[in-house]
Amino acid sequence: MDIKLVLNKAAKEIEACDSQQSLQDIKVAYLGKKGKITELLKSLKDLSIEEKKSKGAEINSIKEEVEFLAKKRLSEIKIKEINSNLSKESIDITFPTPKYVGAKVHPISKTFQEVISIFGSMGYQIAEGPDIETDFYNFTALNIPEDHPAREMQDTFYLDGKDENNLPLVLRTHTSPVQIRTMINQKPPIKVIAPGRTYRCDSDATHSPMFHQVEGLFINESANMSDLKGTLVEFCKKFFEVQNLKVRFRPSYFPFTEPSAEMDIAYSIVDNQLQIGEGDKWLEILGCGMVNPVVLSNCKIDNVKYQGFAFGMGLDRITMLKHGLTDIRSFFSGNLNWTLMNGFGLGDF
Ligand code: PHE
Repeated sequence: MDIKLVLNKAAKEIEACDSQQSLQDIKVAYLGKKGKITELLKSLKDLSIEEKKSKGAEINSIKEEVEFLAKKRLSEIKIKEINSNLSKESIDITFPTPKYVGAKVHPISKTFQEVISIFGSMGYQIAEGPDIETDFYNFTALNIPEDHPAREMQDTFYLDGKDENNLPLVLRTHTSPVQIRTMINQKPPIKVIAPGRTYRCDSDATHSPMFHQVEGLFINESANMSDLKGTLVEFCKKFFEVQNLKVRFRPSYFPFTEPSAEMDIAYSIVDNQLQIGEGDKWLEILGCGMVNPVVLSNCKIDNVKYQGFAFGMGLDRITMLKHGLTDIRSFFSGNLNWTLMNGFGLGDF
């Protein structure tokens, strides 16, 4: 069969096809084990060496062309499918609504406000950073070099493209890059929290690909582990509204803190309800430690004169614990009825 004809025919079929399944069938018909192009390649074995060279090159370039056309068509088909799904899901905004039902504040928003107000009362200011980070701020400056296993601990979303300095872009996996941005831009003493969105490729009842953390950073000439402990215990008592709070600090490891710890709070189950504060069961709620001197010097802070502590806490998790919610995904379902049931009115502030 004429090789060019095969290409023309394949190109026409690919162009005309409009579903992922039929495209797959076409690929099999040309490139599969018994496909037309595969058969052509197989037939080379009966030719002379010279003929093999020239025909082989020709068939291979046609194979590549067909593969390229199929890939291109696949992305066109996918875009068409997305657009057609979107148009089916469109909402009629002119549809009359029932009478005003009252607005509610989302539980996560309430936690944000509480966290900001509790740390605010201790003198913490708010620091911010972008959700799209470079791997320098998210990892390298935090003493997580390339190839460090900690990069795999957090299932990172890498983005296509680079920043203006040619650095790879990621969706930040934690709020810790805000520590770096703050230390580069401010001189000690530093006392900030950084609440915000974070992203990891993970999804089940207790993990969501987008979630929230609050980072804390305190740098001066004398900050120590006991200041850290006092701060966190004070925060938890206020946040969970309990007088007595049993906590424990377990040694842990983070490349950016040394020593590092995880903090657990005690709880018990009373009448099927989770009660925070006392009991013999433990819930892990945050990671913390003394800022690693390497990180201070990465940010050009004199690590002989200054020291400090940092902590990072999952805001979705403490919200679920405080309000007895069990599935993190419900926070982000966009279900208005859920928000009306679980949200807060102005009187709750
Ligand atoms: N960034 C860490 C995490 O996301 C938490 C952390 C922050 C630990 C600050 C120590 C100090 O798991």
